[in-house]
Amino acid sequence: MSALPSKGPGGQRPPAPRDATLSSLAPTSTSPSSFSAWLGVVLVVVLFSGGLFGYDQGVISGALTGIKSSFALSPLIVEVVTSWVTLGALLGALAAGEIADRIGRKRTVLIAGALFTLGAAVQAFAPDTAILVAGRLIIGAGVGVAAVAAPLYAAELSPAAWRGRFVSAYQLAITIGIFLAYLVDGWLSSNESWRVMLGAAAIPGLLLFVVGLLAPESPRWLMKMSRRPTAIIELKKVSPKVDIEAELDSIDLALSRESSGATWGEVLRPEWRRPLMVGLGLAIFQQVTGINAIIYYADQIFGAAGFATEVSRTTVTTWSIGGVNVLATLIAIAFIDHWGRRNLLLTGLIGMTASLLVVGAAFRFIAPAAPGAAAAVAGPSVAGLVTLVGLVAFIISFAFSLGPVVWTVINEIFPGRIRGRAVAVCTAVNWGSAFLVSQFFLSLVDGIGSSSTFLLFALLSVIGWVWVYVCVPETKGQTLEQIQLIWKKKAA
Ligand code: BGC
Repeated sequence: MSALPSKGPGGQRPPAPRDATLSSLAPTSTSPSSFSAWLGVVLVVVLFSGGLFGYDQGVISGALTGIKSSFALSPLIVEVVTSWVTLGALLGALAAGEIADRIGRKRTVLIAGALFTLGAAVQAFAPDTAILVAGRLIIGAGVGVAAVAAPLYAAELSPAAWRGRFVSAYQLAITIGIFLAYLVDGWLSSNESWRVMLGAAAIPGLLLFVVGLLAPESPRWLMKMSRRPTAIIELKKVSPKVDIEAELDSIDLALSRESSGATWGEVLRPEWRRPLMVGLGLAIFQQVTGINAIIYYADQIFGAAGFATEVSRTTVTTWSIGGVNVLATLIAIAFIDHWGRRNLLLTGLIGMTASLLVVGAAFRFIAPAAPGAAAAVAGPSVAGLVTLVGLVAFIISFAFSLGPVVWTVINEIFPGRIRGRAVAVCTAVNWGSAFLVSQFFLSLVDGIGSSSTFLLFALLSVIGWVWVYVCVPETKGQTLEQIQLIWKKKAA
């Protein structure tokens, strides 16, 4: 699709000249504009998408017992029921990039809402395993599509000065979703309740669809599609105080400087290799430092650390992992646009390394039972309590750094023409890494022991720190168009 602006009515200005200077990309929206009701709609879309992502990712562990007693499941099918959400998410994320570039960010969010509703309903009413698995795949696709569309939507519609907070609100919603899933798992443990647990996502899914219908389209995508008159209308809604023409000219100039043809090949072009490396590296380090080993297996880790009763394990998992995760994400929302992405990442990785070292050391003093084994002792030992403190410190450190910042940076570093596809690749790699870590965590514990497994995560956090220090640029407060200049300057 051509990058030229529309020739339609509306008195729009002619396209920015190709030889315009880079200073034409001067900030037009770096100072906070007023918070319009339309930005509220954008925020609701982001919150519902993230919340459904977190809920659907977290709820299955509590639903499995009931599912197993309703259908006679072989171990293989149990694994399929559990993990095909990840498979669906991977495929959904890859497809969403193309869809978001072709039909727009808003309609992609609508597709996510429809998939969430459909998938939740199919699972809730599944008469047999085959239909249940189909429902898992559909909901997985919804998670993947939302994981690409919602932060992309937030990044493109929020004013530059608030962008970090908007994308972090998406992460906040993921953590609230995980927390709610832990709570629901604790409340509804009787057999047939699994249908309610899985089906409950249909209501917010439907609400996401309805709010999505009202939501504005991304002016950046509209400009990419040469629809300037509509872009003017949509930009006025979310940023009524900015100089609309200047802002659109700046977007237009950035688009005109990019070569045409948004193909997959273009995502891999040498000029975009650096942002792609930054995006992929962040996506991988977010997962290989162990977050989902802890989110998925917290219950078992606490069991091995001496929390003997199910009630004590559920309570400590829900509040010390789920609750703390939500609260600590608020730190990122408060600081990401002032303190910057790099500072949060570097500080968080130091906290993650230190806490993983503490957990690794504590496990040296805990009887060498695998996290999967039942605890033999009646209560947590000192080493068990130290493990608890270490894990809480890890969750806090992750929640104000790698959790929100990775999604923020991935969604702001790519040029408009390839943004959808490039974000999709990074998101799919993030899901792939999550899948591998959660798949191999227990085998790793079996093979090298709990202590060494956490020390390995600590080592990867140190490598992550060095990599962030060297490779990740600061992007706070800059418009998406200015950020693209970072790569051009580096290449020069
Ligand atoms: C990650 C998820 C993780 C969640 C925990 C997100 O940023 O992408 O994999 O489960 O944070 O809060």
